[in-house]
Amino acid sequence: MVTEQTQPEVNIGLVGHVDHGKTTLVQALSGDWTDQHSEEMKRGISIRLGYADATLRRCPECDEPECYTVEETCPEHDVETEVMRTVSFVDAPGHETLMATMLSGASIMDGAVLVVSATEDVPQAQTEEHLMALDIIGIENIVIAQNKVDLVDDERARENYEQIQEFVEGTVAEDAPVVPVSAQQGVNVDLVIAALEEQIPTPERDETLPPKMYTARSFDINRPGTKAKDLLGGVIGGSLAQGTLSEGDEIELRPGREVEEGGSSEYHSIETSVRSLQAGGQSQEKVGPGGLLGVGTGLDPSLTKGDALAGQVAGEPGTLPPTRNAFEMDVELLDRVVGEGEVDEISTGEPLMLTVGTATTVGAVTSARSGECEVNLKRPVCADEGAKIAINRRMGARWRLIGVGTLTE
Ligand code: GTP
Repeated sequence: MVTEQTQPEVNIGLVGHVDHGKTTLVQALSGDWTDQHSEEMKRGISIRLGYADATLRRCPECDEPECYTVEETCPEHDVETEVMRTVSFVDAPGHETLMATMLSGASIMDGAVLVVSATEDVPQAQTEEHLMALDIIGIENIVIAQNKVDLVDDERARENYEQIQEFVEGTVAEDAPVVPVSAQQGVNVDLVIAALEEQIPTPERDETLPPKMYTARSFDINRPGTKAKDLLGGVIGGSLAQGTLSEGDEIELRPGREVEEGGSSEYHSIETSVRSLQAGGQSQEKVGPGGLLGVGTGLDPSLTKGDALAGQVAGEPGTLPPTRNAFEMDVELLDRVVGEGEVDEISTGEPLMLTVGTATTVGAVTSARSGECEVNLKRPVCADEGAKIAINRRMGARWRLIGVGTLTE
């Protein structure tokens, strides 16, 4: 029997158009509700990245695919189910104004489930934009969940299925399995688990390298009114791309924080230590790559409040990529922008919204040539040469994904 493993080993993104059922599917797979912010509850949309862990299991006595479950005991045979692996789900928001959040989440996804509602024609705008984003960031392991099949008849379900097939032709999701589900009714969740096992393997990662963690969230976990002596240090949430972290380790965060000096400001990296580690809903002494982690630090919690440190890279002091206030990149533009038509060349002087790892920043183009450009950043990023950058242009009231860059210098 496979031994119980509590640290999640792979990050699986849930992407797709607003209200198509991403959060409900995560809930069906994990029992957790990822929308935890009161504003999100009120508005009914995922605003920040939500995350939840799930242990995928199989019943040793059921046939495939009925054997796949998240239950600890098989209701059919009343036997304990075997653990296959624990995964973290990253629930990206589907609303069009939240593309930056989706893109920064995509940078820590090892694979993704594209949720498409059977009740609407395919593709809806963010179904298309999110798939383009997966393509740009290079996420190739994809499962398509055709959701809300409980709301349509057979004929409509088939028609919608064909629309999905036609839509993904020629894209990175061309060979992705399409699994009909009702996330709300819990129908075919076993087939989704089977597809995740098949399509989204746990990537190989090197634990011997120095730790490098991409921060996607940061929190102040103290209740209002906590006495100063009882305050817990700030918490950062994200994923280790390589290496391990243990309690007591010293870490550096880059770009760090803005420091004003003599009328100008610059970023200084922050050093702190690891006070506690959480993964898979439990405290851990040591964690490795894959899955989402919460790292309790010695930082003043006011520094980590409200995602203030989202987008930072954390790791062993002195080993992190450089902090850049400007960079050059090779640019590959998309053929067209969702809902807007052809993509014009990038021009000198225009502002771009750039997602580099989990960081999002605005850059002014200081020089643009065909296929490459230089940008000056409003907020610096910590990134190596070769880093992939999602490029967004302001169109009307919102930022639209227009292409991908590769950092050259
Ligand atoms: P954003 O995070 O805001 O992009 O939305 P989402 O894609 O996470 O959608 P969410 O899971 O919040 O679901 C939207 C609505 O659809 C909710 O009212 C759900 O209860 C409902 N819903 C989700 N899945 C199903 C399903 O399989 N069948 C039915 N009937 N309703 C569903």
